[in-house]
Amino acid sequence: MTALPKSIDDTLALLRAQDYVAERSLATALFLALKMERPLFLEGEAGVGKTEVAKVVARALGRSLVRLQCYEGLDIASAVYEWNYQRQMVEIRLAEATGKAAREELESGIFSRKFLIKRPLLEALDHGDAEPPVLLIDELDRTDEPFEAYLLEVLSDWQVSIPEIGTIRAKRPPIVVVTSNRTREIHDAVKRRCLYHWVNYPDAQRELEIVRRKAPEAPERLSREVVAFVQKLRAADLFKLPGVAETIDWCKALTALDAVALDAATVDDTLGVVLKYQDDIAKVRGAEAAAILKEAKAVAAA
Ligand SMILES: Nc1ncnc2c1ncn2[C@@H]1O[C@H](COP(=O)(O)OP(=O)(O)OP(=O)(O)O)[C@@H](O)[C@H]1O
Ligand SMILES: [Mg+2]
Repeated sequence: MTALPKSIDDTLALLRAQDYVAERSLATALFLALKMERPLFLEGEAGVGKTEVAKVVARALGRSLVRLQCYEGLDIASAVYEWNYQRQMVEIRLAEATGKAAREELESGIFSRKFLIKRPLLEALDHGDAEPPVLLIDELDRTDEPFEAYLLEVLSDWQVSIPEIGTIRAKRPPIVVVTSNRTREIHDAVKRRCLYHWVNYPDAQRELEIVRRKAPEAPERLSREVVAFVQKLRAADLFKLPGVAETIDWCKALTALDAVALDAATVDDTLGVVLKYQDDIAKVRGAEAAAILKEAKAVAAA
């Protein structure tokens, strides 16, 4: 267990020590979220490092990470708790076999904690006296509105009620990171409870530092050219722009091919590492890639 960071600079250093190179504005939002015990809401394009923030914070602070992956149709049984029907059935059979006294005990016993299966939200609240975990509510935009409404309650009161048992309340709130790819707008009421930060694509300098840390095996010249290329590519009119994850992947892929610098043929052959839509690849491959490559080489050499 590590103490919470004491300043924004402290927060930047804490992230960096885990190889996460953050913008100062993100470190500010995170610092405040930790200090004020408020959830951090991260929105941004795919692959810009939203999910990674939660993982890195858990690692840096020595907390456990509880992850709730959202999807359409996510329900209470998968997100909060579920009764262990199999074990309850066994208990019922045993009571039937042993007689009346056991049967009377059965009713209270069967809906006790012993038969409760904790799902991520309950697990994150019901941590007893241990240090609160980091709760990652990932890709909230994939769920539906009723779930959001439920979540709103959890995030405001740090409690869930289970009819058969009562209310379970967190002694201390977990550290919460909510992410969204903004495929739809999240309700204002949820956002209001959180501190909000839009995660941007990094500038060239920050992206190069990320690559140096995440793909250290890549030769320096190659990394520079890849970063310059991807930065230019993000200005192109594409259906889906490459994220940081793609830049890292590209550096690793090219290194695996023993490349020490970009060349037009290799770029064309490996575009599928950076672009994931055939229309985008078809558009860039050839003349446009060559033009971007020329500019990128000039920038990287400077
Ligand atoms: N600022 C950063 N510093 C270090 N690594 C980063 C940074 N941003 C992104 N990465 C790396 O990029 C990869 C993708 O990050 P992550 O999965 O967090 O993206 P995401 O925003 O959650 O994407 P998606 O919306 O697709 O889930 C990870 O391997 C992560 O380590
Ligand atoms: Mg993610």
